[in-house]
Amino acid sequence: MGARLGIGLIGAGRMGSTHARILARAVPEARLVAIADLDHAAAGRLAEELEVEAAFGSPEELVAAPGVDAVLVAVSSRHHLDVVRIAAAAGRHILCEKPLALTIEETDAAIAAAEAAGVRLQVGFMRRFDPDYLRAKERLAGGALGRPTLFMSRQFDTDPIPDTFRDPLVSGGIMVDMGIHEFDLARWLMDDEVVEVHAFGEAVIDEELGHLGDVDNAVVNLRFAGGAVGSVELSRNASYGEDVRTEVLGPSGSVFVGLLPLGGGAFAGPAGFSIDTLPTSEPRFGRALAEQARAFARAILEGRPVEVGGSESRSALAIALAARRSLETGEPVRVVTLAG
Ligand SMILES: NC(=O)c1ccc[n+]([C@@H]2O[C@H](COP(=O)([O-])OP(=O)(O)OC[C@H]3O[C@@H](n4cnc5c(N)ncnc54)[C@H](O)[C@@H]3O)[C@@H](O)[C@H]2O)c1
Repeated sequence: MGARLGIGLIGAGRMGSTHARILARAVPEARLVAIADLDHAAAGRLAEELEVEAAFGSPEELVAAPGVDAVLVAVSSRHHLDVVRIAAAAGRHILCEKPLALTIEETDAAIAAAEAAGVRLQVGFMRRFDPDYLRAKERLAGGALGRPTLFMSRQFDTDPIPDTFRDPLVSGGIMVDMGIHEFDLARWLMDDEVVEVHAFGEAVIDEELGHLGDVDNAVVNLRFAGGAVGSVELSRNASYGEDVRTEVLGPSGSVFVGLLPLGGGAFAGPAGFSIDTLPTSEPRFGRALAEQARAFARAILEGRPVEVGGSESRSALAIALAARRSLETGEPVRVVTLAG
């Protein structure tokens, strides 16, 4: 085997633990060499489980450790910018969970920090590495549908929101935390920009979330620059399991991702209907997370740009912030991509 990228994981919480297990087992291009969390004991437990040699109680110690060529940032979204700055200043390449930051200004600051340090920065829009979404993208780019007219996407989460995530000031709230995946897909699959949104939502199940200024169920209508329209549905209350589905309709057919049982995809076109099977034992997006890390490691090892840079998070965040504003005002909101 050729050279492997030494990755240090920063953030050993819910998502960091998932990344660590995937990095340790399913990413041959990389080696997980250290784990850090402000909760030093949590970093230690995860390192012990995965036989990772070093565990630290701060990002500063991790980026200075031997063998750390790059970092995977999986701390709470509110702290992404701080950690990105620490990693960039130490000259470490960065794969950062989504969203890169919670505001356009902080997103720009994170991109600038990486650029100034000459390190590469990839954002964790892992669906772009998911085989089902990639097949959908290929079918769309190949013109199988004609020019897409309608985008529909849903993300229903099953778990109750963890306490660490309830405060929208920490996570960004439903539009920035969950919706950003769908808004990124909207731009990527449609190969077009969203220019206007109109959002509706309520704290239907979790009234306390309403007191924090967030909702647990929402729909967002989208208008694209090229004239297409779309909608995104978000819920934190899918009792039957995580349910993620996306469909793009064009004059000659439809691509669809996400069947029940969860996973897979389908294609309906002039020649008929085909279903892509996915073993139900495979965790949804496990493969996507592995492929995302593999693509990051290959880009660094081969000296190429990363596939999903910071500007993608900036563009999707602008849509999410417009959707949040629309939720607050009840009015349609134009998507503004400039800071401020
Ligand atoms: N791609 C996805 O589908 C997906 C899913 C869930 C979460 N996420 C993202 O993963 C990130 C983490 O979410 P989570 O659910 O794991 O949160 P979490 O609260 O479970 O874990 C965050 C961890 O970061 C640690 N931490 C916070 N600030 C730190 C700092 N400055 N230095 C070191 N450690 C620090 C905390 O102690 C905690 O252990 C968020 O950005 C979230 O948006 C992505």
